[in-house]
Amino acid sequence: MSPLIAPSMLSADFGNLDNQVEMINNSSADLIHLDIMDGLFVPNLSYGFPVIKAIARKARKPLDAHLMIVDPDRYTEKFAELGVKYLSVHYEACTHLHRSLQKIKSLGMKAGIALNPHTPVNNLYDILPYADFVLIMSVNPGYGGQQFIDNSLNKIARLRKMITDMSLNTLIEVDGGVNLNNAPLLTESGADILVAGNTIFGSDNPEGIIRRLKGEEL
Ligand code: DX5
Ligand code: ZN
Repeated sequence: MSPLIAPSMLSADFGNLDNQVEMINNSSADLIHLDIMDGLFVPNLSYGFPVIKAIARKARKPLDAHLMIVDPDRYTEKFAELGVKYLSVHYEACTHLHRSLQKIKSLGMKAGIALNPHTPVNNLYDILPYADFVLIMSVNPGYGGQQFIDNSLNKIARLRKMITDMSLNTLIEVDGGVNLNNAPLLTESGADILVAGNTIFGSDNPEGIIRRLKGEEL
């Protein structure tokens, strides 16, 4: 099965935002990944609502927002209003994760749990039936262009087994350091959605890279 591809706007050229979104619209990408950082949960700031609005106005692919912020429930309604379809919050940032997921779903969005590299997938045992997708961070969140952490492949395989054993339909998204070498291994291990920033936007032929990440021969 070929994976869904979610280009991460963090690596896009923000001086040329409309063209960058148009490139994604015209490509075989499936989602547009938005990285929201608050300088507290992660040691970096990214972009906020005015930029998301500008992307949303132009986008013809569903928006997938990844919240790397503390107390994300404060903004759930706002992301729904902006037309976000997939919203993930960090396991490590939510004291009442079940409530956070229910709130996301009640507003018509797909609810995701994002996991830092050090958080075991086994911790998801009791919450997994309430999530539409799990985002496995394969780098420490905060920056684009980092090196893939190899143990992520084991985590994905273990999570895939949990999902199968529990007869769930939960999707697995992988985020960080995804490239043309590890993409086939990620898909084999059970990933459904591959996020890629640097690999796509750092290329002269981003649309070709998106097709190759999907496993197409060019
Ligand atoms: C990192 C973000 C990622 C990042 C991925 O905190 O969550 O989505 O943009 O970038 P690459 O693909 O360059 O590692
Ligand atoms: Zn992300």
